[in-house]
Amino acid sequence: MERTKEPTRDYPSLSRTPWTFWETLYARRSHRKYLPMERDGELESRLRETVSLAISARGAEEGDLLVVTDPGRVEEIKRRAHKGAPNKINLWLTRAPLMGFLVLAVPGKDVRGDRPRRLPRAVAATHDTVLWLTEKGLGTCWLGGINQSEVQEALGVGEEVLIPAVVSFGKPKPRVRAGDFDHLVYLAISRRRKPLSAVARLESMERPFIVGKNEPRSFSASPVQDVAGLLRKLMEGTSDQEDVPLSLALEACLEAARLAPSAGNAQRWRFVAVTERSRLAELSSACGARKAWRAAVVGAGSPGGWEETFLEKPFWMVDLPIAFSQLSLMAVSMDLAVDLFLDDFEEGRVAAAVGLASGYRPVGVMGVS
Ligand SMILES: Cc1cc2nc3c(=O)[nH]c(=O)nc-3n(C[C@H](O)[C@H](O)[C@H](O)COP(=O)(O)O)c2cc1C
Repeated sequence: MERTKEPTRDYPSLSRTPWTFWETLYARRSHRKYLPMERDGELESRLRETVSLAISARGAEEGDLLVVTDPGRVEEIKRRAHKGAPNKINLWLTRAPLMGFLVLAVPGKDVRGDRPRRLPRAVAATHDTVLWLTEKGLGTCWLGGINQSEVQEALGVGEEVLIPAVVSFGKPKPRVRAGDFDHLVYLAISRRRKPLSAVARLESMERPFIVGKNEPRSFSASPVQDVAGLLRKLMEGTSDQEDVPLSLALEACLEAARLAPSAGNAQRWRFVAVTERSRLAELSSACGARKAWRAAVVGAGSPGGWEETFLEKPFWMVDLPIAFSQLSLMAVSMDLAVDLFLDDFEEGRVAAAVGLASGYRPVGVMGVS
């Protein structure tokens, strides 16, 4: 698998055992060029199994994440999704021989609410599936610039269901140089990521997260490194880990979040790692957690921005749950037990516990034990 984003440091080398989930994270990138492929019934049924697993692991609602592989439906979505001026950025879809789409189909009441509750869980399950597809060598692209009503009609889901985003997938065309559209977008937008120092904080918004300078004591990553296995472990919620230095564990989780894709690659987010006892107690109480946590990460998004206005979609509630998919699977790849809250926490208390700046709202809290 080809690597796309520069790592902050060589994390896999810090484990005595293979820590290969990193390869999946670094290999995933947005593909806008695909090659034709034969229909593969076995792959499709494994994909549907993975979607079910991800929906259970994230506590999402069945039906909020659809898999479309029927060639007629796929063609119709491709033809209709880019209708309307703001969606012309995705005109490339018409020429892409896709295998299918993952479709977020969530009730409008939830998506348009002040704080969507079903949407973030469905998004996390969708991105888990994106990572699984990456592992299987397939290319994907999150697409928010789509005409919701046209896609609604193509799927026959009814007007009360909104389609905030879809993900295209198929056989990726290797990147060619020079004037190729996929390559130009990659160079202009996609490959860039803000450094950890710009997006990560320690204990509160005011304190920067300093990347460890010394080589930490090495540890053994989980023997489970594949996405489906990690999702099963996430559901078990148990930890065999006594070995991983907490500072490395947090840094790896923050790096996994940093690499996540976001609409327009805006990365309008902050991640606060928390280890202080009193703050942890306040956070776990605000989440109603039942277990004691060794550490936590709060992820906050900044609603608004040009993508949200232009495309009329609540991207803060898509981008952050994508990052939490990566963050939580990274924690499990180190054998940590994860308690993830994407809704049902007291937002004001979480924001106060880490001193969130105005303009930011907490989207998720991950406790690890
Ligand atoms: C919610 C969301 C919506 C996106 N919408 C589009 C889109 O409409 N068209 C497109 O070409 N890329 C879209 N992208 C892909 C981003 O531009 C891409 O993820 C980002 O530039 C980072 O690049 P990478 O995915 O290659 O790491 C979207 C990504 C996300 C997460």
